[in-house]
Amino acid sequence: MSLRVLITGAKGLIGEPLIKLLLSQGNSIHILSRTPANSNPAVKEFGWDIENGSIDERSLEGVDAIIHLAGENIGAKPWTTKRKHTIVSSRTKSLELLFRAIKGHTHAKVKTLISASAVGYYGDRGDEILTETSHPGTGFLADTCMQWEHAADALAALGHRGVKRRTGVVLAREGGALPKIAGPVKSGFGTILGSGKQWMPWVHLHDAAHAYVHALNNEQMEGAYNLSSPRPVTNKVFTETVAAIHRKKIWLPNVPDLALRIALGEMKAIVLSSNRTDSTKLQDTGFNFKYAFLPEALHDLYG
Ligand SMILES: NC(=O)c1ccc[n+]([C@@H]2O[C@H](COP(=O)([O-])OP(=O)(O)OC[C@H]3O[C@@H](n4cnc5c(N)ncnc54)[C@H](OP(=O)(O)O)[C@@H]3O)[C@@H](O)[C@H]2O)c1
Repeated sequence: MSLRVLITGAKGLIGEPLIKLLLSQGNSIHILSRTPANSNPAVKEFGWDIENGSIDERSLEGVDAIIHLAGENIGAKPWTTKRKHTIVSSRTKSLELLFRAIKGHTHAKVKTLISASAVGYYGDRGDEILTETSHPGTGFLADTCMQWEHAADALAALGHRGVKRRTGVVLAREGGALPKIAGPVKSGFGTILGSGKQWMPWVHLHDAAHAYVHALNNEQMEGAYNLSSPRPVTNKVFTETVAAIHRKKIWLPNVPDLALRIALGEMKAIVLSSNRTDSTKLQDTGFNFKYAFLPEALHDLYG
């Protein structure tokens, strides 16, 4: 059955392949963007201004499902108080704006809300295996994810099927975290961060996009689902595998925890937090990861 899907934050890393996939399956796409441009004739773009609370309500017309990807990039700039506010509000106020718009829109027929979330929900948890019933963690990333998920739950409570995707590090050649890790490795200056024992849940961009479509089409899915490959690895294994793919060796000593704490402050959580997430719940819904093993995923990305 073809659906009309409204995607927020659609022009980012996950949105781009997701749009292609949804269009290839005969769905129609509306986009909500801060800078609508109608650059792609196959989709309709509409504008919103989250801080000012304005939204083009035509974006909701005939929409069956919303995929909420919008959110200020977490790792791009230092976490000043203002930036922390933007990181949270871009995710939560945007959902609140959708809530008000749907409530006030007499013709809205949205049935499904699929919202991004992140493995940061769990905080720093060492070797503990983290399932969707594990308790949330502490720290800014965990607080952000909890507020994000609460706002998604409130919107879903309007009567929609709500799915939350607790996503690990999305691996893509041209965007996200991988180029930042692979760049120094390729130049021969790659390093393991901290002890290197922290778990890094990862997911290939192909699987991330397909998992969103799977949640859209699988009406049994509801609630939170970890979205990371069934084989998370530690930072040490991750870095060494990236090095092996590029026929390089990691010869520099590990960057000590203390140096990362001094250089990054609170943002150290992005690289030092350990999340050993389990994806059984997602796989039990019939989702098969194309890239379950890191070397296969990296071979695909780097050829
Ligand atoms: N990539 C990952 O490794 C990863 C891992 C875990 C969770 N996630 C989450 O999954 C979602 C999608 O990830 P992604 O990697 O595709 O993100 P992305 O490439 O950073 O794109 C996010 C989109 O959100 C919109 N956006 C950015 N700043 C915003 C702001 N201040 N207010 C409102 N909208 C804003 C932008 O769309 P417009 O410019 O069109 O408005 C942008 O294209 C994000 O919420 C992210 O936190 C990603």
